Amino acid sequence: MINVVGLGYIGLPTALMMASHGVEVVGTDYNKELVATLNAGRTTFKEDGLDELFAAAVKAGIKFTTEYQKTDMYIVSVPTPYDKFSKKVDACYVVAAVKEVMKVCPKGATVVIESTVSPGTIDKYVRPVIAANGFKIGIDINLVHAPERIIPGNMVYELLHNNRTIGADSKEIGEKVKSYYATFCQGEIVVTDIRTAEMTKVVENTFRAVNIAFANELSRICRHDNMDVYEIIRICNMHPRVNILQPGPGVGGHCISVDPWFLVGDYPQLAKVIDESMKTNDSQPGFVLERIYEIMKENWITDNRRVGLYGITYKENVDDIRESPTLQMLDIQERHLARPLKSFDPFFTSKAIVPNQILDFDQFLSEVDMVVVMVKHDHIKQNWGKLSGKVVLDCHNICPLEGVYHI
Ligand SMILES: NC(=O)c1ccc[n+]([C@@H]2O[C@H](COP(=O)([O-])OP(=O)(O)OC[C@H]3O[C@@H](n4cnc5c(N)ncnc54)[C@H](O)[C@@H]3O)[C@@H](O)[C@H]2O)c1
Repeated sequence: MINVVGLGYIGLPTALMMASHGVEVVGTDYNKELVATLNAGRTTFKEDGLDELFAAAVKAGIKFTTEYQKTDMYIVSVPTPYDKFSKKVDACYVVAAVKEVMKVCPKGATVVIESTVSPGTIDKYVRPVIAANGFKIGIDINLVHAPERIIPGNMVYELLHNNRTIGADSKEIGEKVKSYYATFCQGEIVVTDIRTAEMTKVVENTFRAVNIAFANELSRICRHDNMDVYEIIRICNMHPRVNILQPGPGVGGHCISVDPWFLVGDYPQLAKVIDESMKTNDSQPGFVLERIYEIMKENWITDNRRVGLYGITYKENVDDIRESPTLQMLDIQERHLARPLKSFDPFFTSKAIVPNQILDFDQFLSEVDMVVVMVKHDHIKQNWGKLSGKVVLDCHNICPLEGVYHI
């Protein structure tokens, strides 16, 4: 039996996937409300194919509880934020979860850390917890790191098809854990050591962050000297070895806006490009706010109550708002004692999650003269017609209307 600890965006689909592929699974989360929702037969977030996967896992006998289980394998999938001052990984959730696991786990058990951590975190924070409980690692308890790569919006597909990495102290344990993931994973599963697995996951997200920062920086250079960044990127990408990403309003979510900071925190003298890239991405919502100001002036819009942000989530077609560029922008406004701009998001239409959020799209449009497209939800692509006559700042270069502004 596998006890999956932490049933959030990563733990829940992983638990469901294993259960629906014949593995006996109990999911544990200390959030009572979340466990009650799952036990009432409802999923806790929206994701393509998740409800069907949930139904299959329930049929296969998955259980949800707030209790940690006595069993021979644990998968720990709890948050790993970074310390805002030091930029280092904050391993407190992982440590707390492993401490709870140690209270119930029998000798011979395997503890798999799925949470993303910086290289050396497991040595520094997890091994001492296991040792403090009188267990010898490799003899009494096996320790494994199996980072997750899935992208919100396409999680179920990617769980099935992505390649995976498993870091273990011994090849034998790595192969044993691989066999569990291989029950559903059709991609290649590489077995390596723990530190390498830790580093690869952080490096993958850092690669993405640095490349996004490059595109964002180009958008600012081009804006400064009145060049069309999209046309320039389009032409550059016709070069056989150039593949520049698209600029945007900033970076959010629990991965790309977080994990690269771990390297800056651990290697401040070495991680220079990464540091600058993260600062560039983090300041992009402020750059967009300046663009809004410029465009308002150009269009004689003097009242910022007539400006609305479309999209609050951190990316398109998901209901995850963590670290989203829209939230970052509203935070900048708040810190400058400015009235938060109006906003609308098709994923949050029953209860407001930010001040001045409007829950109905038509009402939102009736109350604003200028719309800033922060998120490229499919919903907006089906409603361009309703934006005609508005001043539009399109942060993703997707709007087909005439006279649209860009970042
Ligand atoms: N969200 C993503 O897109 C993504 C992708 C790849 C990897 N990751 C990594 O996966 C890990 C989990 O991220 P997430 O997005 O699923 O987080 P999340 O916040 O959605 O879920 C974490 C869950 O863990 C529970 N929890 C925390 N401490 C606990 C404890 N001691 N005992 C029991 N339950 C506990 C919380 O209640 C929560 O439900 C992080 O390290 C993250 O970096 C996330």
